[in-house]
Amino acid sequence: PRSGKFITFEGGEGTGKTTQIARLADYLRAEGHDVITTREPGGAAGADSIRSLLVSGATDKWDPLSECLLLFAARREHLNKTIWPAITQGAWVLCDRFADSTFAYQGYGHNVPIPFIEQLYDAVVGDFAPDLTLMLDIDVEVGLGRANTRNADNASREDRFERMDLSFHERLRQGFLEIARNAPERCAVIDADHDPDIVSDIIRAMVNTRLLAA
Ligand code: TYD
Repeated sequence: PRSGKFITFEGGEGTGKTTQIARLADYLRAEGHDVITTREPGGAAGADSIRSLLVSGATDKWDPLSECLLLFAARREHLNKTIWPAITQGAWVLCDRFADSTFAYQGYGHNVPIPFIEQLYDAVVGDFAPDLTLMLDIDVEVGLGRANTRNADNASREDRFERMDLSFHERLRQGFLEIARNAPERCAVIDADHDPDIVSDIIRAMVNTRLLAA
């Protein structure tokens, strides 16, 4: 059976991932592909329950290692119930965050040993990996400014991570960039400090050269 594609969007707070995922989904549907959009933590019933434990409350509510275990438990549900079935049916799955966020936030951000996260990845995700990871990169203060504006309009208060200090956000930005440097065949860094139309054009071109032209 024809296999679909798995594209992940990664980056710090306020990089505009949500807007860009919706735009790429529209574009790929217009090209005749079957597309689903999803996000982590979440994307399946059990994973959404875990999400609500993670995204609100005190910044020190979870020990970072517990946080990793919860994220990978959610990820396993998401893979089994949503991502793998869709890809098997030939759909393109566009996902707002995936395992690189655990390496960046819990690993680079909270100092959970990277080899421990790699072991979890092998056990939970195995050989599977995104066909393409778009790393949306923006200056930390610009990104947090955007995220704060969004939260002011939004009563849901999913801002536990956004409230962590500036040095945390700097570490995770550097983490994402290092992940991209170590896996250039999978990752593309996109400068997100442009008008959203320009960012969409860059993303479309990237998807065309990396996945559609192949
Ligand atoms: P998300 O809803 O994508 O937040 P945002 O819209 O601000 O990008 O993700 C929720 C939060 O969860 C986000 O602050 C990052 C955090 N997170 C981790 O710390 N590790 C992970 O593995 C994932 C998937 C998310």
